[in-house]
Amino acid sequence: MENKKKSGFTGSIGFVLAAAGSAVGVGNIWRFPYLAARDGGGLFLLVYLVLVLTFGFTLLTTDIALGRKTGKNAWNAFSCVCPRWGFIGKLTFLVPVIIMTYYSVIGGWVLKYTSVYLSGRGAKAAEDDFFISFITSKAAPIVFMLIFLAITAFIVYTGVEKGVERFSTIVMPGLFVMILGIALYSLTLSHTDASGITRTGLDGLAVYLIPDFKGLTFSRFLNILLDAMSQLFFSLSVSMGIMITYGSYVKKDVNLNKSIAQIEFFDTAVAFLAGLMIIPAIYVFSGTDGMASGPSLMFVSLPKVFSSMGKAGIIVGVIFFLMILLAALTSCVSIMETLVANCSNIFKTSRKKTSFWISLYSAVTAILICLGYNIFYFELKLPNGSVGQLLDIMDYISNSFLMPLISLLTAVFIGWVIKPKWIIEEVETGNVKFGRKKLYAFMIRYIVPVIMSILFLQSLGLFS
Ligand code: PFF
Repeated sequence: MENKKKSGFTGSIGFVLAAAGSAVGVGNIWRFPYLAARDGGGLFLLVYLVLVLTFGFTLLTTDIALGRKTGKNAWNAFSCVCPRWGFIGKLTFLVPVIIMTYYSVIGGWVLKYTSVYLSGRGAKAAEDDFFISFITSKAAPIVFMLIFLAITAFIVYTGVEKGVERFSTIVMPGLFVMILGIALYSLTLSHTDASGITRTGLDGLAVYLIPDFKGLTFSRFLNILLDAMSQLFFSLSVSMGIMITYGSYVKKDVNLNKSIAQIEFFDTAVAFLAGLMIIPAIYVFSGTDGMASGPSLMFVSLPKVFSSMGKAGIIVGVIFFLMILLAALTSCVSIMETLVANCSNIFKTSRKKTSFWISLYSAVTAILICLGYNIFYFELKLPNGSVGQLLDIMDYISNSFLMPLISLLTAVFIGWVIKPKWIIEEVETGNVKFGRKKLYAFMIRYIVPVIMSILFLQSLGLFS
């Protein structure tokens, strides 16, 4: 009955697709490539892949099993196991509160590009200043963000099962095929710049795949590690309560071990291919200088790829931005859904009323973030060495600071207080074979606490 009330998923595929719908979003297609490019390509990629197979798997397993075993959302899951550690659940709630402030802003950017391509003005989007002049203008980013947010709020209003599940089934496979096609095309590009230097897609591929250890210092390595870890949290939607809540919707006959491996694989494959689609292209058109451009990377490089395709590029652009828009929507829906579910639980208000207040909160904060590129513009040097505006600061607080802290606390709680066996038993429910059981126990007890402590201190700038 409890499951029914909370709109449980219809089965294993439904759960995997809904979780993938939350996990796969602008994090994979926008955030991963710009971090990988900024951190030099191959080295970041290598670090990220190692982290997915170790930390990603451990954290995802913990969240989903904790949710299913307790049948509770993050706010209550920890306290129902052990009241003294209940504060972790409250802390996780802060993450979607912060991410919500800027996710819809990026959703608005994607919406803007979708509308530009739909109206046949794709060539304009490939011009050098297009992106900057758009985000620094006062009204347009706010208008697009508000439309994006309104669509998100509408979906949340209709409930998890109908909204997220149905959406993800259609969008995810299509997005995957599309990204693969564009990635392969990117590799065929070639461009000669004003100084006569020709760069090809395959040169760019080498930058993306081959780690460059030249001049690597300990502090730079820690920064790459922190960037990769923050990306892992954000991309897999772990350590923010969301996968705990999703886990609580999962029926006992679903094979968690298999579902987790599928989510991990799908999320990483999309990120990897997004990098393959964007990094060689930016290298071809702008060289290594262009690679450091940060959040604008996808919006600057992809239109150039599409315009190099001639007429076909307009159609590819339309379909592509529509797909990203849908991926962004499914993720944003999951963030807002968590906020609504938790708040209506905490304040004992109806879903309807809570949705209204959360939408209002999201709109007001996102307007402030949009204004961070004009009226409230300033440059703050972040402890990881990059310079950020309001959006980057919020991103830093949630992904680089809060999430290592939450993961550290969760690992100490699971590894040392209730012991890994508690989670392992849940994964093994129904005689499921948990292949990476030993790795899980070792990671959660020793490796996660140590590395998260170091990263947490690094996020405060202690080793810089
Ligand atoms: N994982 C999503 C992405 O990669 O875009 C972002 C996200 C979804 C963050 C859900 C937070 C969240 F609660």
